[in-house]
This record gives sequence, C-alpha cells and structure tokens, in this order.
Amino acid sequence: MPTRWWQDTIIYQVYLRSFQDTNADGIGDLQGVIKRLDYVRDLGIDTVWISPHFDSPMDDNGYDVRDFCNVSPDYGTLDDFKALLSEAHARNMKIIIDMIVNHTSDEHPWFLAAKDPTHPDHTTFRDFYIWQPPRMNDQGNPERPTSWVSWFGGSTWTYNPPTNDYYLHIFSAKMPDLNWRNPAVRVAMKAVIQFWIDLGVDGFRLDASNHLEKNWDFPEANPGYEHFSNLPKHHEYLEELSRALFEPYDLLIIGEAGSASREEALRYAGYDSHEFNLLIHFEHCWADIDEANNVTPGKWAKGSVDVTKIKRSFAKWQQVFANQGWNVLYWHNHDQPRIVSHYGDDAIHHRRSALMLAYCLYLLPGTPIVYYGEEIGMTNVDYTDLSDFRDVEVFTEYGNFKQNGAHHETAMQALRDRCRDNARTPMQWDDSPHAGFSTATPWMKVNGNHSDINVKTQQKQPDSIWQTYKTLLHLRKHERLNHGKVTFYTLDHEQAFVYCVTGKTHDYLVIANFTDKPMRYPLDSLIKDYTLYVANVKNAQAKSPRFAPFEARIYRHQHNRTSSAMI
Ligand code: NOJ
Repeated sequence: MPTRWWQDTIIYQVYLRSFQDTNADGIGDLQGVIKRLDYVRDLGIDTVWISPHFDSPMDDNGYDVRDFCNVSPDYGTLDDFKALLSEAHARNMKIIIDMIVNHTSDEHPWFLAAKDPTHPDHTTFRDFYIWQPPRMNDQGNPERPTSWVSWFGGSTWTYNPPTNDYYLHIFSAKMPDLNWRNPAVRVAMKAVIQFWIDLGVDGFRLDASNHLEKNWDFPEANPGYEHFSNLPKHHEYLEELSRALFEPYDLLIIGEAGSASREEALRYAGYDSHEFNLLIHFEHCWADIDEANNVTPGKWAKGSVDVTKIKRSFAKWQQVFANQGWNVLYWHNHDQPRIVSHYGDDAIHHRRSALMLAYCLYLLPGTPIVYYGEEIGMTNVDYTDLSDFRDVEVFTEYGNFKQNGAHHETAMQALRDRCRDNARTPMQWDDSPHAGFSTATPWMKVNGNHSDINVKTQQKQPDSIWQTYKTLLHLRKHERLNHGKVTFYTLDHEQAFVYCVTGKTHDYLVIANFTDKPMRYPLDSLIKDYTLYVANVKNAQAKSPRFAPFEARIYRHQHNRTSSAMI
C-alpha cells in the first residue's frame, strides 16, 4: 500500500476553548489557533485536531451542537475558520475537526421541532431522535422506559411533557441521541459532513461513533451500556459515510472505540476497512483503578499504576495492526487526567517523570497525537472549590459520590485526580496573571503552577520538557519512526518499560523505570552494540543496572540497513 499522508504526520490536539484567546473574552478561539500555528510547527508537528468549533449552547463544551454549519461565536466566524484552513495549508499543515455524529444539542432546530407537537416541522423531525413511552411500574405509575445509565451518570431518559414520552440521551439531557435507523438522519448528517469537506478540512475525528446503533427492544438493564455501545449495525452506518464521503477524498478519519477487540479494531481501521483510518482505544488510560473502591467507583477510583498493563496494551496494539493497519499513539486526550499527574509525578519528579513518559511513547511506531500542554508537562487542576470545575459530568458524579457516602473532601480529591477538567485548563504560555492565554479572566481558572510551568520559561531552558518534546518529535521525523519496527522486552517486569525500535539511520533502545521506586534492570547483552544517546537524569551511568525513580535512558546504534528495510 502506498504511504498515506497521515502515516507520516504528527498530530497536535487543541482544546479550542483553552488554547489561546485573541479577543479578550477569556475563551480560546480560532484566531488563537492561527496565532500559534508556527509554535506548533516549530515543535515538529504538522496536523492540528481541534475540538468542536460548531455553534453550541456549550453544555458539553461544544459536543452539543446547535448548528453544524456554523462556528460558535465564542470561537469566531466561518471566515475565521476558512482563514485557519488557509493559514495551515500555507504552512503545509493539515486541520482535522471533531465531528459529532451521535447526538445534537437539545437546542438544535431538528430537536426543537421533534419535541413540540405544534411545530410545523414536527412530523419531519420527530423520528430524528429516539422516543419511548413511559413504562408502568407495579403501582401503575409511569416511569422511565429503562434504567440505562448515561456516560455522564444519571438516567439516559428525559421526559418531554408535550409528547408524554421520553427521549434518549446517552450523554447529558441536553444531548439527545440521533436515530441513525432513520435514512433521513443519515442524509442530513452526510450533508453537514460534506459542508466541511467542501470547505477543505483534511479529516475528521468522529465523536462517539461506536454508539450510533441502539437496542430498539429497550430491555431493562442497569447500567445497560451494551444496549447502546458497539452494536453490529453501527459498522453499516460508518461504512455508508466512508464510501460516500471519506474515501473519495484524501481525508484522515479517526474513530474511537474504548474497548474494541482485535477483530473489531481491524474491522474499524484495518487497511481493507471502509470505516476509519485510525482507531483510538482507551486500553492504557485507566491502568490504575482501585476495584475495591465503591464510594468513588470506576474510573474515579485511583489505585496504584499497573505498569505491565500499560506495556501489554502498547505491545498488543502494535501487534494487532502490524501489516494490517496503522497504530495511533497517545497518552491522553480531553477526557482523561493529565498524563504527568496520572502516571508520573507532578510534585517531586515533575520533569523527570514527564520525560520518562515521553521516551516511552514517542519512539514507538504509528501516528502520535500530542495533547496541548503535554509538551510542557501541564498537570491536573489544583482547584479547592467545587465551583471552579466546569465539566457537566463533574456535577452529576459529585452528587453520586455524596450519595455513596463520600465526604466532601474525598469527592473533591476524586475530581482532582480523575475528572476531565484536569486536561482542559488554559494553556500555560507564560507566567503572567492569565498565563498568556488571555488578557481577561479565563472561562476556567488557570492552574496556579503556571508561574513555573509555562512555554516561555521552558523555551529558555535547554533541558526542559518542551525542548525534549521538540527534540524527540524532530528525531521522530528524521528517523521516520512512525514507520519503525518495535520489539518490547520483559513485559512482565513490574517497573521497567523497555523497547527497541528501528529508525532510518539508527536503532533505538528505550529503558525506563516507570515507577517512583528505584529499580534494578540487568542490561547485560541488551546494550552491547548501543551507546547512550540521552537520559532524563544528569550524569546517567550508561552501563549501570540501577535506575533512580522515573529514570529513563535512550540508547542507540547506527545500522547499515537502507530505509527500504523498514516498512
Ligand atoms: C466523546 C468526547 O471525547 C467527549 O468529550 C464528549 O463528552 C462525548 N464524546 C460526547 O460527545
């Protein structure tokens, strides 16, 4: 298969609301992305994925779309969007947008018509959404149709008095699910996707697309995720989109499916698939859940990090897609905590652990996605007040924790450790009062540590996290590591993260202590032909089997193979 552009690229994910404000309203905007394109390019990145920019009431920061063919006034205008495309393309950069296909806002005109029997377009749009009559309980009283639980906590059903029935929403009540069984929905969604293709976008990240099909028997279940996730028919919808819209153009399509099996993953994103090009899974994202915690349960229950689980996940996905598809590499996105706080140490070993994490990921084969602020080691929030948080999910879950018996402080700690707001604070450009993000009070509080952790400071320090990202990403390009071949070692080792990867001129060997405890790792013959290239501690001893907490080293040796020996 000839190489596609997205196999050579490096992606930078921008959370639009928090990246760069240019009109002093405290909210990031499209002009802000334009302003920072050179910054991104300088890092060694050539594709930018922006979070939803559509007109929206912002219940879920834009994942609740009111008008698919317009830009939110928070972010600018359609002209600003066109300017972003042309500025990016002029730099040989690509722009990917987040396309929300599973639901709309409850303020979208389709839903306004659907929920109101007196609306002139009611009959046209009623079946754009999923409605069910109340279920009668044993006492003969009407109740919700099922006990299904939404991804944000709480019921998936909201009662609509004018029609005396419930609509389905697997996210917030302001995000009603579209009915993909209705051909008119598919036609309408294709039209809005075509609108952005015609403007010249280079690809889409298809939001929540593994939820497009529902179990229309609506069986009773709690939480019932299996009735609205990964049902076989959603593949048909994706294939329909792909054949009609994606394949005729040279677009990059990124899908996500948290728990896809190998077979499922290849069906989504194998070379011969007609759905996505890249698949985001979440397997490595929650390798530290304390199953015994039922006060702040599930992803909210922080336990100790299972390093073997993370390595096995990386090794497995490299193997799943070997010769049959293409891997995507990322530590986290806007839905998970900041990686240095999550798997590293944002206090004593901040820089060292951030570099260790970078070494472990950014020499692997595949297309990487760097999340904004990761390149300076931005951390989880330092909020002490519930009102500092912004995410819709936080407030339902806080209520759930209290109901489970959590004290306020326990619930707050779970939020600080795990909530999505951790990854959504304003970008820390400098040490000024609003971190160079805005001249006005930001929509969400800037992390207090921006006086130490910011781009401006790190650009002046030769060994900063930012410098290391830049070095590694440029090395990645130069050595064509996206196309390398990887071998993992000692997957059962509870501390060491070790792999070797082939580059254009050198082979690279990464040996990292993934933990905050000292580690002994026998180097023996492993480093025989290698010399130490770089390390994240001063005066690293190339031949020493002793590794300090989070110490990581990259060794390399020059080979004589031609690049054609690589894939
Ligand atoms: C997945 C997105 O990543 C998340 O941020 C969003 O809340 C849901 N889909 C709903 O659109």
